[in-house]
Amino acid sequence: MNYSSILAGVPDSWPGPALRATINESRPTFRGARVLISGANGFVGGHLARAMHAAGARVTALDCDFSPSRGTQLDLTGLRDELELVEADVCDRRAMAALVCGGGFSHVFHLAAGASTIERAIADPYGTIVANTMGFVNLAEGARLLPEGKRPTVVYASTDKVYGEAQVLPYTEDTELGGVGIYDASKLCADILAKTYHRALGVPTVVLRMCNIFGPYDLNCDYRLFPKAMRNIFRDGQSPELYMNSVEHFRDYVFVEDAIRAYFHIAREPKCQGRVYNLPGAHYVSTPDVLRDIVNFVSEFQDRQRECDPSSPLARHEWNRSIRVVPSAPNLITISKQHLDGTRIYRETGFEPMTDFKSGLHATANFYLWYFNHIAPRKALVSAPLEPLAPHQEDGFEAVISDDGLPVHRLVPKLRRSRKTAGASSRPRSFLKTEQLV
Ligand SMILES: NC(=O)c1ccc[n+]([C@@H]2O[C@H](COP(=O)([O-])OP(=O)(O)OC[C@H]3O[C@@H](n4cnc5c(N)ncnc54)[C@H](O)[C@@H]3O)[C@@H](O)[C@H]2O)c1
Repeated sequence: MNYSSILAGVPDSWPGPALRATINESRPTFRGARVLISGANGFVGGHLARAMHAAGARVTALDCDFSPSRGTQLDLTGLRDELELVEADVCDRRAMAALVCGGGFSHVFHLAAGASTIERAIADPYGTIVANTMGFVNLAEGARLLPEGKRPTVVYASTDKVYGEAQVLPYTEDTELGGVGIYDASKLCADILAKTYHRALGVPTVVLRMCNIFGPYDLNCDYRLFPKAMRNIFRDGQSPELYMNSVEHFRDYVFVEDAIRAYFHIAREPKCQGRVYNLPGAHYVSTPDVLRDIVNFVSEFQDRQRECDPSSPLARHEWNRSIRVVPSAPNLITISKQHLDGTRIYRETGFEPMTDFKSGLHATANFYLWYFNHIAPRKALVSAPLEPLAPHQEDGFEAVISDDGLPVHRLVPKLRRSRKTAGASSRPRSFLKTEQLV
């Protein structure tokens, strides 16, 4: 898709006042610095890449999928032309070592996740565990291979799900870790290994355990509460869905621009190295209540539009102003209450969320109203279907039958090739010489 003709129409108030101030005060640290962001074509990674670029950093955006058909933040804002793009898999050890060792980075922000939702994780447990643990290890190894003093700070995007079901809330950073689900446990492994790489191997690491993040450009519309509700309302004219098993769930929510501010706070402060921080929410609320908040907000927003501009798309949009309770997805291990204490990050870096829930919701609803009108009005464009579990041939593995008749994956050394993208002009400008990496 050629986005150039619609770029001007993105209802984008980015950055809000709080993020703008953080970017300005972080310029002395990041101006001219080289930073690597894995998962940069995703939701949070896209916002971080944009903010680091605005702070004057030279951003290398790493992702396994830069297909323009994704319509991500980098595509819709034109930012992909401003950054160095590297299309590679974080599971590729040699590629990651070459990238980190040769990049001259001051910081590596590791946000790529093989599956970043629990539903996708359970559909591919092996792939999720490998990507979410070894992805971190491969990047941290790249840093370890450099001489001390030249090692970048590796900042790891962890999650509040590493704490699991706790007796006492809110979770502090000292709460016992207990993530059990596939996504939770795979993120937990890397979270623990971040400490190991710091203490045992001298790699500066920082861990940020994040609560639920919402905001524009989250395209995980099949699973995540906010983009799914927005799709229900703005594309399908339906009421948002509430899973039966979520009726008694409580979660923290933070606006994405505040999450990005937290990254700046922990990354620019050398005393944060070797530390773990919770990213607290601005809003702790039950799942039914957050859906009610969304329905009420969009309804009010729409009523105001009907008074001011009855011919606008929102004023004319028909949808069912209620919540639908639907059966839960089977086999999911979910945590009933997740609530983070933010004392440590506040005391040690001065960070606290600044965007109130309604302002965040306003920016979010504005974006999705536009997105489902102009970019993804049809189902096929919204998000990719789950891929069936496939042998890891791309990673140099081949499925074979062993002597005792069991299927196994055997490592087959072979030349790696970058994935095909839609056209020559959209091909990432990777500086990796893949032939030299095997
Ligand atoms: N969004 C949230 O609410 C939230 C909360 C807590 C923690 N996190 C963590 O923050 C990080 C970013 O989350 P997000 O919401 O932006 O996720 P996302 O799914 O929007 O983005 C993840 C990106 O990683 C890329 N990726 C996947 N596998 C890869 C691989 N093997 N190699 C290279 N790139 C790969 C994907 O293409 C995608 O662009 C994740 O690590 C997630 O676990 C997110």
